[in-house]
Amino acid sequence: MRKPIIAGNWKMNNTIAATKALVTELIPLVKDAKADVVICTPYTDLATAVELTKGTNIHVGAENVHWAEKGAFTGEISADMLKELGVEYVIIGHSERRQYFGETDATVNARVKAALAKGLKPIICVGELLEEREAGKTDEVVIRQTTEAFKDVDKSELENIVVAYEPVWAIGTGKTATAEDANATIKVIRDTLANLYCRNCADTKIRIQYGGSMNTKNVDELMAMPEIDGGLIGGASLKAADFARVVNFEEVK
Ligand code: 13P
Repeated sequence: MRKPIIAGNWKMNNTIAATKALVTELIPLVKDAKADVVICTPYTDLATAVELTKGTNIHVGAENVHWAEKGAFTGEISADMLKELGVEYVIIGHSERRQYFGETDATVNARVKAALAKGLKPIICVGELLEEREAGKTDEVVIRQTTEAFKDVDKSELENIVVAYEPVWAIGTGKTATAEDANATIKVIRDTLANLYCRNCADTKIRIQYGGSMNTKNVDELMAMPEIDGGLIGGASLKAADFARVVNFEEVK
């Protein structure tokens, strides 16, 4: 019903030379994927990634976008700039941006609206910190982040949006949420979207990924969960063979 979508988030990794090598190796390995395949790269690698993936099933995304159309925002990149490069997706509100670069629910929402207005597809990240989880606040946090991110976003845009549930304590730590826990929290996010829009919209239009140490070992189990529609992959997206194994996950019934 919902087509799986596996996206790599390269974060601040790979020069242009490394991008050429990685993408060239990846293309044949994922060509028969049943999932949508996306690689989100640093700005400096986007043109190379778009060029190399032309005519393939790999889609390219950026890792952030500014909310203003243009202007005095030194160091920032606009949605028009990304569109012109041929970029299709953009990660918004990653926890590393929330943690280190002052990203808030309000700026996430502003970026989402700017991206959609220019025809970019946002991958909106939500997820709780370890202390929030330990305080039993996981649901409260993801409900708030989801509700704020979708403020003033029209129902007609839902098909163009992906949500990534990334528990912050599971990112880059080797700790994965159990498949059951990830599934349960993603259900909370889907129910939030059902409340904001409609049940059918949440069940059929929006894909929700899991992210946080998803890798070759745990992908099959995670993807077998009914609410998990894909993954946002950090470390395991930097090696072609590993990312391809995640993209070509095995269906466990
Ligand atoms: P890791 O897969 O390295 O844990 O990173 C997950 C992530 O943050 C993807 O956006």
